[in-house]
Amino acid sequence: MLEDMRKYMAFVTIYENNFRVLHWKLSGCDFQTAHPRYGDYYDHMGDMLDEVAEQIISMGGNPVNAKEALGMLEASTDRAIIIDSAEDYSACAADTAASIMFNTLYDLAVTMCKTDDIPVDVQDMFIQHSKYYRIENKFKIARTMIITKSDNTPASVATSTVTDVSAPNSDDEEESDEEHEEEEDHDHDDEIDFD
Ligand SMILES: [Fe+2]
Repeated sequence: MLEDMRKYMAFVTIYENNFRVLHWKLSGCDFQTAHPRYGDYYDHMGDMLDEVAEQIISMGGNPVNAKEALGMLEASTDRAIIIDSAEDYSACAADTAASIMFNTLYDLAVTMCKTDDIPVDVQDMFIQHSKYYRIENKFKIARTMIITKSDNTPASVATSTVTDVSAPNSDDEEESDEEHEEEEDHDHDDEIDFD
């Protein structure tokens, strides 16, 4: 069980660095929005790395260093990727790599959640990690990668609303005038009663 936790830590260690490299080597028109998003990814991964290292130590194990982490990824049958720092990456290419990494991390975290002989608080940590991977990948990145058609906008709804407001039909105007006259009559009655 401790070796499984160390393998998970190895993936988080290398993938945190992968997210940093993507943050630095993003390029293209989506750079301004994707660059800080990738900063958030490695910040969050750093926090999770700290959590899992502390839990491993509390259970009598040792955390992994960078050399061990790389060796564990190379030996793993799980899908492991290393981001080439010599390349530049569009936001779409980076998101594809991020999706692969989040999928692997999610699978590893969920496997750990289901391990019977780990303490409940450690199980809870893996549940929290898996929630993060799912939302970032299956919701946010998935939404980011949907290509929206140019005519698929809410503009048509806005146009019909503007039309209703700016061009009321004549019946509405008559009704409105009648109501206004009735209101004036009532006001007048009130004044008489008051005097
Ligand atoms: Fe930065």
